[in-house]
Amino acid sequence: MTFTVLFASSPMNLREADESYMEEYRSAEKAGFAVGLIDLEELLMNNDPQKALKRVALHPGPEPQSALYRGWMLRPDEYENLYAALLTRNLRLIHTPGQYRHVHYLPESYPKIEDVTPKSMWFPLPTPVSIDAAENLAAEAVRVFDNHPIIVKDYVKSRKHEWDEACYIPDASDESKVRQTVRRFLELQGSQLNEGLVFRAFTELEALSRHPLSGMPLSREIRVFVLDGNPIFVSTYWEAGEDAAFNAVLGEFQEIIRSIESRFFTIDFAKTNKGPWIVLELGDGQVAGLPDDTNAERFYTELKKSLEKGVG
Ligand SMILES: Nc1ncnc2c1ncn2[C@@H]1O[C@H](COP(=O)(O)OP(=O)(O)O)[C@@H](O)[C@H]1O
Ligand SMILES: [Mg+2]
Repeated sequence: MTFTVLFASSPMNLREADESYMEEYRSAEKAGFAVGLIDLEELLMNNDPQKALKRVALHPGPEPQSALYRGWMLRPDEYENLYAALLTRNLRLIHTPGQYRHVHYLPESYPKIEDVTPKSMWFPLPTPVSIDAAENLAAEAVRVFDNHPIIVKDYVKSRKHEWDEACYIPDASDESKVRQTVRRFLELQGSQLNEGLVFRAFTELEALSRHPLSGMPLSREIRVFVLDGNPIFVSTYWEAGEDAAFNAVLGEFQEIIRSIESRFFTIDFAKTNKGPWIVLELGDGQVAGLPDDTNAERFYTELKKSLEKGVG
């Protein structure tokens, strides 16, 4: 079965992939995938699926053919629109909207990773958000963390680049700092807020350095792409011997990895100061970025090989 990989077209030239995904587009094609372009603006802003898919042919056959999207994160309702639109071309994305949501929203998959990820709690927020009301809810909610350090994010993203003002709270019992950080986070997220607020116990990670501009700690973190329960791509290059050590670590997470209700996802690991590796977050494989320095050709070649093995 052939998989089609769909990318967003460039707003400047609808015949080309958007600049940010150009290298991936070329690499996917080179690896032997069928590739396609969708005009996301028509789909998501103008709500015109037929125009958005002008360049995607109807795939003949009794059953929909397989496709996957590679691009920016979509809200679950946007993903659902894309999923439905592609079905009119007889293409079916690798994940149903439900599967997308399962991995995209931390609270949805949290029960699966609970034992290996920092303790977290959350609550949804109505739109439009009342920042005052959110602050009050937050002040109440973080009591479970006592006086421990915590971080704040929404159901999907943090403001890690505004670490001190909008992400990290050194002491959860410091109510004014909690309120201030939550306020700043919500101001910065604005209409991009995903669903609600998440608070997580901060865990000291093995430090590499600090981001020179934002002060965000840079730690030993590794993104692993998983397909059908098997790690297919590990995001880093290694110093001698380290890959074997990390493979052993991965083995210990195998059962959890297999329990995630998604064919294609990322799992981000970090090494704690105390020693053990923990899981930081999951992401849908269609919208998770390739880490810097990733060799895109190698990524798509591995993906192709693994998809062919899986769909037999
Ligand atoms: N609970 C935590 N303990 C320590 N560091 C954390 C924790 N959560 C996040 N971080 C740090 O903040 C970064 C961003 O957090 P993450 O949950 O991955 O949000 P994003 O979705 O914005 O990438 C992580 O890569 C990690 O360095
Ligand atoms: Mg992250």
